[in-house]
Amino acid sequence: MKISLFAAALVTVLSVVDAAQHPKIKLSKNSKKVADSYIIELETSYTGTHASFLKSIASKFENADITMRQTYDSPLFKGMSVKIGSTASVDGVGKRSLHHTGSSGVLAAFAESPEVRTIYPNTITERPKVTVVSKSHSNSPELMFAHNLTQVTTAHNYGYYGKGLTVGILDTGVDYTHPALGGCFGKGCKVALGYDLVGDAYDADKNPHPVPDNDPLDACGANSGAEGHGTHVSGIVAADDHKYNFTGVAPQAKLGMWRIFGCTGTVSDDIIIQAMLMAYEAKVDIISLSLGGSSNWEEEVGSVVADRIVGKGVPVVIAAGNAGADGYGQIGSPGTGKRVTTVASFDNSHFLAAYFVIAGHEDTKYPYVLSSHASPSMPNGPIVPSASTDTVTNDACNGSPVSSQVSGKIALVRRGGCTFDEKAASVEAAGAIGMLVYDQSGGGAFSPGSTTNTIPVAGISTDAGEAIFAATHGQRPVSVEFFTDYTAVAIASADTVSSFSSIGPLNENQFKPNIAGIGGQVFSTLPLYLGGYGTYSGTSMATPYISGSIALFLEATGKHQDPTYILEKFQNFAHLAPVTNGMEGLDNPIRQGAGLVQIVDTIKDAGHVSPAQISFNDTAHLVTSVTLKISNKGKTAITYTISNNQSMAVSPFDVANSGYTPLPAIAYTTDAATLRFSTRRITVKPGKTVTVKVSVVPPKTNPKDHIHYGGFVQFKASGNAKTIHVPYFGVVGNNKDLPIFDTTLLGLYSNDLSTEYTSNQTYVLDRSNLATTTPYIVYRLLSGTAYIEAQLLDSNKQFIGYTETDLAYIPRNTLESGAQYYQTTWQGSYVPKGFKQTSSSVAAPDGYYWIKFRALKQFGNPAKNSDFETWLSPRIQLKN
Ligand SMILES: *[C@@H]1O[C@H](CO)[C@@H](O)[C@H](O)[C@H]1NC(C)=O
Ligand SMILES: *[C@@H]1O[C@H](CO)[C@@H](O)[C@H](O)[C@H]1NC(C)=O
Ligand SMILES: *[C@@H]1O[C@H](CO)[C@@H](O)[C@H](O)[C@H]1NC(C)=O
Ligand SMILES: *[C@@H]1O[C@H](CO)[C@@H](O)[C@H](O)[C@H]1NC(C)=O
Ligand SMILES: *[C@@H]1O[C@H](CO)[C@@H](O)[C@H](O)[C@H]1NC(C)=O
Repeated sequence: MKISLFAAALVTVLSVVDAAQHPKIKLSKNSKKVADSYIIELETSYTGTHASFLKSIASKFENADITMRQTYDSPLFKGMSVKIGSTASVDGVGKRSLHHTGSSGVLAAFAESPEVRTIYPNTITERPKVTVVSKSHSNSPELMFAHNLTQVTTAHNYGYYGKGLTVGILDTGVDYTHPALGGCFGKGCKVALGYDLVGDAYDADKNPHPVPDNDPLDACGANSGAEGHGTHVSGIVAADDHKYNFTGVAPQAKLGMWRIFGCTGTVSDDIIIQAMLMAYEAKVDIISLSLGGSSNWEEEVGSVVADRIVGKGVPVVIAAGNAGADGYGQIGSPGTGKRVTTVASFDNSHFLAAYFVIAGHEDTKYPYVLSSHASPSMPNGPIVPSASTDTVTNDACNGSPVSSQVSGKIALVRRGGCTFDEKAASVEAAGAIGMLVYDQSGGGAFSPGSTTNTIPVAGISTDAGEAIFAATHGQRPVSVEFFTDYTAVAIASADTVSSFSSIGPLNENQFKPNIAGIGGQVFSTLPLYLGGYGTYSGTSMATPYISGSIALFLEATGKHQDPTYILEKFQNFAHLAPVTNGMEGLDNPIRQGAGLVQIVDTIKDAGHVSPAQISFNDTAHLVTSVTLKISNKGKTAITYTISNNQSMAVSPFDVANSGYTPLPAIAYTTDAATLRFSTRRITVKPGKTVTVKVSVVPPKTNPKDHIHYGGFVQFKASGNAKTIHVPYFGVVGNNKDLPIFDTTLLGLYSNDLSTEYTSNQTYVLDRSNLATTTPYIVYRLLSGTAYIEAQLLDSNKQFIGYTETDLAYIPRNTLESGAQYYQTTWQGSYVPKGFKQTSSSVAAPDGYYWIKFRALKQFGNPAKNSDFETWLSPRIQLKN
């Protein structure tokens, strides 16, 4: 694998001294943070005001420019976010002496204050990505197909609709003028609570100036670029539309909306945690966040605050993320919070598509899906295949003949061989007025994505393609008529894990994701300015599905229950999916968590097993056995037969061919663990609890491969009781052996990145010409690391200080453009060792230096040198 240093966007450029070194400072080198902004958590014992605290810090400086951004005054989190003004920042040359000046100095003053508990970076979270499947539909009675896969239909039949419960959502706002969302805001309305923390124009990157008001309405308008994410999410929880027969999971629940995104753009951590605390203060029953960043660590501030809220008895439900294509270990914070319910996505059973009929065969409706950039409709008209047989593998690709018959007609083209754009260009050149592409391998109607040609393009099933071939007898044009109302199309991957769903575990082998909802192809409400309804895909959709399900559970079984108990019940009765439909092997818990929610079993069944998920850790830190407690809250005894239902193992690397670069789409193997049980059969009497000890014997695979084995402890129940599953996984190998640095992409580069310096060369850094002589150090992390530092060595290779100080909880790189590597610079200053740890930087005298990078291995002990990976730069000559 080769990564071009020019192709990718540059991830991070840090100033000379990015941070002072202090145990209170938890800086994570994330892809993006608000520059010079920090979240300062104060000790709960601090009784003064925020302003007086800030004043006490500022008074240590001659002309400090520190701005307060957000203040927090919750028993769960006390403190503030601040921005340290640029006038106070360290100049790049570092010619200041050891006064507490500059942003490092100010940060140091915060860290040294006894009132300060922890300092966090103010990380930026991207707007959640959804796949827009279709944006509007016209007057077709509609159901949310997902409800049949999750027993929500049955729960509604039992009369559970979420009445009396309030779900608090943090999102892009909501169009509550939508009839399905109640039409109004405030007391007595469906959207009863909420606040707009940011305003339309806010964007943490481009316009980081929140303009709050007390109305969370999304009125961005069709031309704003807004996608109506929060309205879609709200509808999944609680929409209730009698006219269109559309109901969310808990149509009688109330909603709260804390708006944290503007019409477009990103949000910073200080706003996210403020909104979480506000929703908690408003006493909602469930908090739902369809968002996530790129850090797989549970130490991020959003994860910490979410976990504390759960600790107070309010379930916090957060998306696992949509990074399934980036390989294992990609759950994003705040979904990494310890007791948070982290949600994976399963695909829906059907999606909606417009349909066409073939003249003479009008009673068969064939769905078609227009490409998203095509003209809005397919013309009715004759259709004819561009090739005379259905076996041409590169139909209508460049160099492949196109029948002249297509002129003035719609061309039928076989999928495969080249892009849809290339095919469209060929048939358009032959005079076609539209193109239908049929799947070549038995698949259904599909979306051709976005195409750029002027003629409309749509995807249809193999069956539809064959039917047109049959009707045209090859080359005789036949009439087709296109309808724009919708028909339900079965999804081949229904009820299995969505390909986009982020894969666990966390960096220290914590079990994530926990549970799955339906997130692939979900129909729900959109702002009226976007047409009122549409289909989106993402763990953003699966998350409110679980939040709504928790509302049904609380309605049925009583409010105010321990969130851990609720999650355990959900996990106990979830439905397990195979890797792909028709395949025997179950998908691994690091993809599906416990599986897809089954709400009626969760509500009705008397059984409960705790803990409801197991991480056996790696084999070097093996948790050899776990004791499970099985209890029965029912009126009759239940007998369980206990067995090991193994899943497929995930093989995260192809060590022989691409080393420890995580496979961008994971691979599976059949390796599996043996489980031993203290008993194979138990009877649990009503009101009683019985324990079973589960011991693991991991598979004997090569520890270098670090495969993640997994499966489910299966409690097959007697009588009418439901079978319970407890998901487990473990790693064969030692996380400590995982390389941190990708040595093929670790080096000192010239200022234009064109030349890498080797260990026998000397790099010349000329302080009078920093613009062209500042070197870059480029590195790529194959695994997340809890700590990195860069030491400066003098001409005798003696350690004299740091060019970059502690960067904590750093996520690994991926193969996504923009996230492929980190880079940093050195401009000749450093934080001296032996001085106060939090000192500002000083200029290094002219001379020869080396920079030594140290990264802590996973599970490493920071006090042990041998637990670090190190790299020594080429020699650097510093001169003026
Ligand atoms: C809604 O569903 C009911 C029951 O399935 C059906 O009778 C009714 O016609 C539907 N309403 C609309 C507007 O389609
Ligand atoms: C859900 O299942 C019921 C019962 O099997 C069936 O009648 C109904 O059509 C299904 N609905 C959808 C949307 O699939
Ligand atoms: C795995 O073991 C390491 C090292 O002892 C520990 O830090 C980590 O918390 C363990 N993880 C789990 C999930 O038990
Ligand atoms: C394992 O679980 C799946 C899904 O619930 C089930 O179909 C299968 O029968 C189970 N396997 C065994 C051996 O019990
Ligand atoms: C410098 O080292 C590189 C590889 O490390 C080697 O290819 C090259 O020949 C060396 N050059 C000199 C002048 O020693």
